[in-house]
Order: sequence, then structure tokens, then C-alpha cells
Amino acid sequence: MREQNPVRSSRLSGFYQKSVEERVALVADWAALSAAEEAMLATGLSLGQADKMIENVIGRYSLPLGIGVNFLINERDYLIPMVVEEPSVVAAVSFAARLARTGGGFRTGSTEPVMMAQVQLLDVPDPATAEKAILAEKATLLKHADTSPSITARGGGPVDLQVRHLPQTPTGPMLIVHLLFDTRDAMGANAINTAAETIAPTLERLSGGRTLLRILSNLTDQRRAWAEVTIPAASFDTETLSGGEVIQNIAHANAFAVADPYRAATHNKGILNGIDAVALATGNDWRAIEAGAHAYAARDGQYRALTEWNVMHDKVTGWQGDTVTSTSSVTVSPPHLVTPSLYGRLELPLAVGIVGGATRTHPVAQVALKILGIESARELSEVMAAVGLAQNLAALRALVTDGIQRGHMALHARQMAVAAGAEGAAVDRIAAQLVQEGQIRVERAKELVGIGDWSFAD
Ligand code: MEV
Repeated sequence: MREQNPVRSSRLSGFYQKSVEERVALVADWAALSAAEEAMLATGLSLGQADKMIENVIGRYSLPLGIGVNFLINERDYLIPMVVEEPSVVAAVSFAARLARTGGGFRTGSTEPVMMAQVQLLDVPDPATAEKAILAEKATLLKHADTSPSITARGGGPVDLQVRHLPQTPTGPMLIVHLLFDTRDAMGANAINTAAETIAPTLERLSGGRTLLRILSNLTDQRRAWAEVTIPAASFDTETLSGGEVIQNIAHANAFAVADPYRAATHNKGILNGIDAVALATGNDWRAIEAGAHAYAARDGQYRALTEWNVMHDKVTGWQGDTVTSTSSVTVSPPHLVTPSLYGRLELPLAVGIVGGATRTHPVAQVALKILGIESARELSEVMAAVGLAQNLAALRALVTDGIQRGHMALHARQMAVAAGAEGAAVDRIAAQLVQEGQIRVERAKELVGIGDWSFAD
């Protein structure tokens, strides 16, 4: 086993220019991976392991595993394993993480990992009396619901019971019991579903009704994570735009997604580009995360952006005149007294685990967790929130400056070169030629591959 590298900065300049072998060696050194773990990155899930994971297996389907670099979260450096098929996601998030470093990196937080299961009660003769009877037995019900010894041993278990009335549904009134359950480091779907099924007969007896569904809710609004970042405007300077203009336009772009569901869907998709990629890499249920995120984004009745981005104005250090202390998004005057910065925040439900399920059975997920150096499910959810915020920042910055296509096209050109049969160094050279000619087409790439000698591009 390798010794863990004592100098652990995730600020890895030029990581993308290294060969795959060099990157693997660097990450293995960073995370003190064993030779077997290092080899696992290349071999992945075996057919036998796949056959145990789902039904009717006929093969395996591979996706790229990349590393998001430059992340500083709560003053700790992280390398972020990401599984994603979309070009530019990993490059973009790494770029945004580098920007975030100029403001001290990300700050994150999370709630306790409390999940919720719902038990649906039908044909309840007197819902108000049933509610009283159920709540009177709360302590006993919570004791019955304590069905997962491994979670109890880690300090988790059932924490509360709530009753909700749905007086009007398309098929009539129903009573819903919410069981709240701290699942600690597990995502906890199995644990909480078992607990809900266990207490269902008692709920029937207490309510005089009959239970139908007994299943967790993916709107895990009790189990949230958040990330914040503050970045000086100067970090956003481009050749043609001042950083101040760029960050003001990022705030306008975010405001668009707060006000308009059509834009919000795309905006939030960009956030989930990053979060889902970490979920996949770590063997977590990305569909559950998607469901929770989108439902949470519509919690006030309109679907909105999950982020906020504001321009902040802080007092210039050493200024002796008027005191300007506002940290609001309001422009304070006179503007030359202040140094603007961009403040961003993302908060969303994030039900993820580091034990159980595919996090345990997928051998690459195990390696990904080791690379992350995560110690709890809460820590993982916070890292994911930081990744989501970074992914969103990268998208907004690109959209308000060059537009998204410039970066995409360079990567698209590489794919065209590969599809045309280019190999090794010729891939980048042909891709550069395609971009330069403004003809990013596989036919043109094939012509260029046909020329054969790419040494002239040096
Ligand atoms: C593309 O996968 C994601 C973006 O469309 C997100 C956004 O528009 O904010 C670039």
C-alpha cells in the first residue's frame, strides 16, 4: 500500500494534461490506494458482481470516472470522483472550484440524516379521533419502529411520528402517518421501509382504518445539505468584461431561474450534473436525489432555482471615510469605496449513504469513497452540495461570458476526432484543427485522419 501523500492540496494545475496512468498514480498517492484498489479503477465491476446486483444481467455498461480537482471545502482539500457521460462537466466543475479557492473555498452544513416514511390509512371512520389515538401511542410506535440494530448501534433510529390529514383526494379522504427515522450513515431506504411496514398493523388498529402504501418519501426535506461560497469580483475578470460586470450578470442569470420555471429546470439540471456524477461514483441512488431536489425546488408552489447568487459589497480595508458595511445585494454608493464579491448558496435534500447498497457492493464505489476520504453520510452530502454549487457557478459564468458552446465545442471536436479513428496525440491536434476551421464534423475529421501525418501541427 502507498503512503498517503502528506502534501495534500487538491489544487492540481495541469491535471487534465496528464496521461490516464499519471492521473491514476497521482490519485493513488493522494488517497493511499492499495495496488488492488488502483487496479479496480481499470477493471471495474465484474460480471459476477453485476449478476448479484440486479436481475437478468447480460453484461456491464461502463462510464468514465473522472476527478474534479481544486476543491477546498471547510478548509479541507478534496478530490471528487465523478461518473458522467457529458463532456465538460468535470472540467467546468474543476474550473469553478479553482475560482472558489480565491474566496477561501466552500463552507457547508447539513441537518441530521432524518428520513421520512409514509403510511397511508384509508377508510378511517373518525380521522380526528384516530390522530389522537395514534399520537397517544407515539412512544410505543417509535419503539416498535426501532427495527434496524445496525442503525440503532450507530446512534440512529426512529425520532418522531406525525399525522397528516388529506381530506380531499381523487378517491376520497385519507390519513397519512409520517415516521421520521435517523438513518445515520445509511441512505436508509430499506431500514425505514421495514420500520413503516412493522408499525402499519398497529396504526390500523389505532385508527380503525386499513393501511395501503408503506414507503419512504423521496422529498427528504428533513435531510438537507447546503454549501456557500464568496468569491472576489476580480477572480471573474475576462479579456473583455470586468469581474464586477460578470458577477452582476451571474446574479441576473440566477434571478431568471428563481422567477421562471422554464429556466429553473435547466439551471437545476446543471446543478445535478455534478451531484448525480458524485452519486453515481459513490454508488448512491441518483434518481432519489433527483426526485428530492426537483420536489424541493417547487416547495412554495412554483418550481424555482435551488441556488441564490448575490453581489455583495464589503468595506474597503483601510478606508477612512464613510463606513460602508453593507453585505446586502443592494448596490452601495459610492461604488469606488467597495470591493464587490459574488456570494452563492445552494441548499437541497440530499439522502445519501456511505454504507449499504451499491456503496458497499460496487467495488469502484468503495474506491471512490476512499478517494473522497469521507467519514460520514453527512460529510458526503455536504461535499455534493459544494459540487452542485460549483457546477452551477461554472455554467452561469460560461453562459454570461463566452456562452456555453465554446467550451463544449472543443470537447465535441475531440469526440469527432476519436470517432474518425484518430489515436494518441493526433486526437488533440485534429480536434484543434477542427475548432480552428470551425468545422466540427466527423466527415472533416475523417479527411484529416486520412492525411495521416500530424507532425506539422507541432
Ligand atoms: C448542461 O448540461 C447544463 C446547463 O444547461 C446548465 C445551465 O444552463 O445552467 C449548461
